[in-house]
Amino acid sequence: MTYENIRLEHEGAIALLTIDRPKALNALNSKTLQELEAAVQSLGADTRALIITGGGEKAFVAGADISEMASLPASAAREFAALGHRVFALLEALPIPTIAAVNGFALGGGCELALACDLIYASEKAQLGLPEVSLGVIPGFGGTQRLTRLVGRSRAKELVFTGGRVDAATAKAIGLVLDVVPAADLLTHCRLVAGKILKNGPLAVSQAKRVIEFGADQDLRAANELERQGFAALFGSDDQREGMKAFLEKRPAAFTGK
Ligand code: CAA
Repeated sequence: MTYENIRLEHEGAIALLTIDRPKALNALNSKTLQELEAAVQSLGADTRALIITGGGEKAFVAGADISEMASLPASAAREFAALGHRVFALLEALPIPTIAAVNGFALGGGCELALACDLIYASEKAQLGLPEVSLGVIPGFGGTQRLTRLVGRSRAKELVFTGGRVDAATAKAIGLVLDVVPAADLLTHCRLVAGKILKNGPLAVSQAKRVIEFGADQDLRAANELERQGFAALFGSDDQREGMKAFLEKRPAAFTGK
């Protein structure tokens, strides 16, 4: 499939998805969101990790497209938000780890895109924020909820109410990004992290993601029950047998994802 506003490249088991509208700082218009959705849906079982980044020198994604939103009536705004929510939920539900490589501005919908990924790494020139209130609206692609769950209510309110941007170091200090690396090394760093994950049992990684994601929204008792079930469900799989046998035979495991 050919895309206009994104690029999807496969590097072995890693897929690299670039939001690529640098003239608009990779802003998410409907077309870009639809292409993102199609790209996520196109990932096959041979893809075991996804890295998302922004094209050009300046931005990861500078937000939802303001020129498209400016004249929307409320009914169309509801549909636009529904599209963003659907695409980001799809991304979040992928059974493989997703990594945001935040290489510049990640504002509004761009910050929300990163928040829908499992791991967020930033280059030292990244700036993150949710400036929607400065436009007279609020975040509409899950930012108020995912940011709050990640950094806590108080910091989330500070960021959302002020509409301010934080630099990469501050984003790390508040737990919004995991690590900050030089711009030239960002993708290498993300590939390295993905590579470490790929050495592990694919079924186990996927199950770990599932129980962390679903468990995070439940009370501890219910969440621990999810973990118990997820743990047991892996027993009897080829990966569980191979992983434990390889340990006992003092050799690296050869996982098949079965
Ligand atoms: N939507 C549409 N176009 C955008 C855009 C966006 N979110 N962000 C940047 N652009 C466009 C600019 O309009 C400009 O286009 P022209 O060259 O045609 O004028 C081009 O990208 C370059 O941008 P700037 O000239 O503004 O670049 P800068 O370096 O001076 O500033 C910036 C960079 C600080 C990121 C600034 O562009 C900016 O503030 N962008 C908007 C950020 C924002 O408010 N994002 C939230 C959007 S609302 C949202 O996302 C709602 C939601 O949750 C669903």
